[in-house]
Amino acid sequence: MSQVVIQFKNVVKAFGQQTILDHVDLTISSGKTTVIAGPSGQGKSVTMKLILGLLRPDSGRILVDGQDITVMRAKALNEVRTKFGVLFQGAALLDSLNVFANVALPLEERTKLGGEEIRARVLATLAQLGLTGHEEKYPAQLSGGMKKRVGLARALMLQPEIMLFDEPTTGLDPENSLEIYKLFLETQKKFGYTSIIVSHDIPKIFNLADQVILVNKGKFSTFASPEDIQLSKLPEIQAFVQYTMGKVYLSREME
Ligand SMILES: Nc1ncnc2c1ncn2[C@@H]1O[C@H](COP(=O)(O)OP(=O)(O)OP(=O)(O)O)[C@@H](O)[C@H]1O
Ligand SMILES: [Mg+2]
Repeated sequence: MSQVVIQFKNVVKAFGQQTILDHVDLTISSGKTTVIAGPSGQGKSVTMKLILGLLRPDSGRILVDGQDITVMRAKALNEVRTKFGVLFQGAALLDSLNVFANVALPLEERTKLGGEEIRARVLATLAQLGLTGHEEKYPAQLSGGMKKRVGLARALMLQPEIMLFDEPTTGLDPENSLEIYKLFLETQKKFGYTSIIVSHDIPKIFNLADQVILVNKGKFSTFASPEDIQLSKLPEIQAFVQYTMGKVYLSREME
């Protein structure tokens, strides 16, 4: 039995007349990979922001490591946020800093480590992500895939318990996307974090998933495997399956 790290209990979130999360329950277990998928504009990114406490729900509870973050004040919330590493679409590197400085930034801002220790940690992580020799380059001099890897290196610097990836392969070709996902798997094994990935890369991404959460019209459905999604009797899930995976799909044939 693995431990629950994130739990939504009956969460409702609306913007004006539009209900984005309609009484949602979900559970994310420690050390596992959860993929969140579904059509555009259905609340995947909003869900990420709720998890980070950047948005608050209208009702319901959101627990991170058993603590209800929906009632927390800013200071406690900031403390909780140190558990998270985040990699969003653009990788959000600072253009004026080179690779080394971008990756060193969290250690400089959030720890009291000395220059030598920071240097050692940054170089070690860059090496693990295949970026040795690129320390002096600026973001404009990197390929899309390299930018994502630098973003991942930076997100990993504070050794997060939970990694959030919101469409981390945007702008990459299919081959590079696959490389990034392989890298996620490897780094996850190495660092042991819990991983939550929002992705449109279906069905590729499902190979990584310990569970898949499909989001549609405010309802969130959790599936233990891609096959389970296919077997769903719900018409909207069947429509999603046909649209994204075709009629017949077996995850073990994807390797
Ligand atoms: N701060 C906000 N104020 C008002 N509406 C918002 C806000 N944030 C998101 N929304 C709305 O909530 C809905 C869900 O947005 P969200 O960004 O979560 O979609 P998504 O599932 O991530 O879509 P995509 O796959 O295109 O990234 C959208 O209709 C969006 O317009
Ligand atoms: Mg989004």
